[in-house]
Amino acid sequence: MIPVADGRILMSDGAGEIAAVGQGVESLRPGDAVVSTFYPAWLLGEAEAGSTRIKPGETVDGYGAELVAVPETWVTRLPAGYSFQEAATLTCAGLTAWRGVVTEGRVKPGDHVLVQGTGGVSIFALQFAKAAGATVIATSSSPEKLEKLRALGADHVINYRETPEWGRAARDLTGGRGVDIVVEVGGPGTLAQSISACRVSGRISLIGALTGARGDVPTALIFLKQLEIKGVAVGSRTDQLAMIQGIDAAGIKPVIDSVYPLEDLAEAYRYQEAHRHFGKICIEL
Ligand SMILES: NC(=O)c1ccc[n+]([C@@H]2O[C@H](COP(=O)([O-])OP(=O)(O)OC[C@H]3O[C@@H](n4cnc5c(N)ncnc54)[C@H](OP(=O)(O)O)[C@@H]3O)[C@@H](O)[C@H]2O)c1
Repeated sequence: MIPVADGRILMSDGAGEIAAVGQGVESLRPGDAVVSTFYPAWLLGEAEAGSTRIKPGETVDGYGAELVAVPETWVTRLPAGYSFQEAATLTCAGLTAWRGVVTEGRVKPGDHVLVQGTGGVSIFALQFAKAAGATVIATSSSPEKLEKLRALGADHVINYRETPEWGRAARDLTGGRGVDIVVEVGGPGTLAQSISACRVSGRISLIGALTGARGDVPTALIFLKQLEIKGVAVGSRTDQLAMIQGIDAAGIKPVIDSVYPLEDLAEAYRYQEAHRHFGKICIEL
């Protein structure tokens, strides 16, 4: 949990209709459908010290409101045919998965990609990896969710509770070679297994810390296997536009678990904390 100032309007991810534009705004008109960007100060290129300074919902007010006033570069267009709820799933989870699999993961057809659990980031990662022609190995703690992962296109599934050495199990599923890319959302409690799952010269997109902020890392294995471990924090506006183009081409739709009214926002957060969801939870205004 990230502490925020008292009275801060929450929610980093939002989509809606332009109600009015200010003087000099040329790229948007009233009635246009738009989706927010996660780091509005990061327009393009590599992240720099100031790129991630502005975070709606955290360092400035977010999108848990009926009307918001933002500069025109803080939003982009939606993928074709997307509802506002569907679009709002992209700002954080979608773009993080896109960078983890596509931009930094450099996925290509025939690669093996490992995704962990059934949260928003991992489900998008599965979808992007499948769209790129990869073989996907997906883990979950629940047999019902493993079935859903298969239905969504996962080629192999592993129950990480029943198989604590799931890194080895994933490697075995690749004929012993190891996976090309891991989308790491677990953090210290899963990183050792992810390193074990990787092929020599494999890549780990380090995204989450669901198991805590620090822990033991098998450092020698990282250089012996010559792994690339890349920290990924969402992405730039340009990354978001590239993702939207990719989504349009592949026809991907997000997996929405449930939708809560704004007045039940706290209940929605509690539901996410309980890890009962599969994919994204949305708020309707
Ligand atoms: N770096 C970034 O830019 C960025 C962006 C977005 C999110 N994140 C971080 O990435 C992580 C995932 O985010 P999210 O929004 O996808 O979370 P989420 O929707 O809350 O995902 C929760 C799911 O993760 C799975 N999980 C929990 N512990 C696990 C473990 N030990 N091994 C494997 N899977 C485990 C569970 O899946 P099952 O129920 O199927 O077991 C759980 O349902 C969080 O730490 C989040 O803070 C980082």
